[in-house]
Amino acid sequence: MFNDIQQTIEDKIKAFCAANDIALAPLKWSAIPFSGEWGVSTSFFQTAADEARAGKSTGKPVPQRAQELAEQVKLQMGSVEGISHVEAVKGYLNVYFETSAYARRVVDTVLAAGADFGRGAAKGERVMVEYCQPNTHHSFHIGHYRTTILGESLARLTQFAGFETIRASYPGDLGLGVITVMWAYNKFYKGQEPAGVHERGQWLLKIYAEATALLEKKDDETPEQTAQREAYDAERREMYRKWDAGDAEVRALWLETREWSLEEMRDILNTLDVKMDVWFYESEVDEPSKGIVEELVARGIATDERPQGGAVIVKIDEKLGLAKEKYRTAVLLRSDGTTLYLTKDLALARVKFEQYHVDRSIYVVDFRQSLHFQQAFKILEMWGFPQAAKCYHLPYGYITLPEGAMSARKGRVILFKDVADEAVKRVLAVESEKSGDIPASEREAIAAQIGLGALAYSILSVDNNKDIVFDMNEALSFDGRTGPYIQNAHVRATSILKKSKVEGQMSDLRPSTFDYELTKHEVELIEQISKFPAAVEQAANEYRPMVMAMYAYDLANTFHSFYHAVPVLQTDDESARNARLRLVAAARQTIANSLRLLDIQAPDVM
Ligand code: ARG
Repeated sequence: MFNDIQQTIEDKIKAFCAANDIALAPLKWSAIPFSGEWGVSTSFFQTAADEARAGKSTGKPVPQRAQELAEQVKLQMGSVEGISHVEAVKGYLNVYFETSAYARRVVDTVLAAGADFGRGAAKGERVMVEYCQPNTHHSFHIGHYRTTILGESLARLTQFAGFETIRASYPGDLGLGVITVMWAYNKFYKGQEPAGVHERGQWLLKIYAEATALLEKKDDETPEQTAQREAYDAERREMYRKWDAGDAEVRALWLETREWSLEEMRDILNTLDVKMDVWFYESEVDEPSKGIVEELVARGIATDERPQGGAVIVKIDEKLGLAKEKYRTAVLLRSDGTTLYLTKDLALARVKFEQYHVDRSIYVVDFRQSLHFQQAFKILEMWGFPQAAKCYHLPYGYITLPEGAMSARKGRVILFKDVADEAVKRVLAVESEKSGDIPASEREAIAAQIGLGALAYSILSVDNNKDIVFDMNEALSFDGRTGPYIQNAHVRATSILKKSKVEGQMSDLRPSTFDYELTKHEVELIEQISKFPAAVEQAANEYRPMVMAMYAYDLANTFHSFYHAVPVLQTDDESARNARLRLVAAARQTIANSLRLLDIQAPDVM
């Protein structure tokens, strides 16, 4: 974890090589797990191999030469502060830290950095994470929650790792689904409107299901029913035409009903502590996307087959000279001149690149849109955007309840609000039973932290590509890989500190001199804490919140074992007690930092 000691050693190696005319290959360091001491290790195989290839070899085989270099470096090393000893073994240089000094540095570093412990240096790159992009005129379901929690966690990770991060939403606010709801509302419910943000959002979904039932062709229709259905459909198409033409009344109705969905969405984002920086709407990129089609035709990327009664298309595979089908052919403009979802994504990407100057562009979207994004990114590349190489679709699988699949058309949808309310209700019931010491006024807020934490963790701890069958009891359990299990580690650490009365005044404690024989559990806890910065880096670079979810569980698990096995307040030796208290405080801080990156609250009591 401590790059400065590593750097000092690296500088010494470099100086030695420069003085002896040795072309040193870049050094790779890896941690040596605790075996009485912690350490780091690097090898000289690459340097020896490079020498041999360059004909500068001393005639020795590469492994032997690597060992010779390691030994020479070791001899030159001298004493370095914090280092106990150095070994040259089989071409490797192993550098060992003084245990008590290392332990103390880990703990002191965490406590000095606090909430910033693990923060990466500025990367000088701007990332836009686009997530939570439901279609409007519809209610917020559990699938929308999956993109929201994945995207928010990823945004927190990239930001903390040192990327300048912009959070963006992109609601789908146009198209036949939207018009269908507006038509049915206008025809059957005009002027009505349930009170309550969520009631209104959910009502739109009900109208949508009713409308699709009315407009759907049935096998055993009577001629009257057929006529009725066709008349409805004609009305709907007329409304679509008017919307397209910018008819004032239809547009006003559209904005009003759209706002109902957006209000519900904002309320949920607020509950989830998500603060979007930018709101893009599909309707806003519709017009600009038409201009793009012309540009792509003029540049010879798209083919205009409208004169033959066709559409405007991009024959991606053909243009790339691919024999096998991969990106296929994409349609950009229908023969009637209307744009497609893909066309609008091209326009949106241009806005992201040109107006927001993003270097990396991440889309957290359902896995079923994979081909769509492959096509979009490929066309952006053909169009000449170098950023296309750093566009990334983070896909996610289905989420269902044991009861079965969802269908918006049939109104069978698992609403996020219902699941969240149920989770919080269940936590509250248990809390009221057994947490006598939590004042009733605080219980509700804590139950929300636990219930929502359980939901978040149950999603983030699963590979994004996997489908999830959500099991409420499992998610809420205090044992196993769950949010509450990790939160409980934070609670336990807090309670030790509270009892010691040093909470908030860590600085009053003397520095942690770990100059006693550390137990196995202390060693493991220190080691686990020291891995946090690398876990942040990995999760952010690989765009995988799951890496952080796994890390948080391992840390909590290590802490729980420590908690059961190692006395802290009951330690007789005062200096050891101080050191352990500081270790508990460092663990608590690291648990809080990991939970924050998962958008999970860290309660002090539960
Ligand atoms: N609104 C779309 C849907 O519900 C998701 C939008 C994803 N983002 C994008 N840039 N295409 O399927």
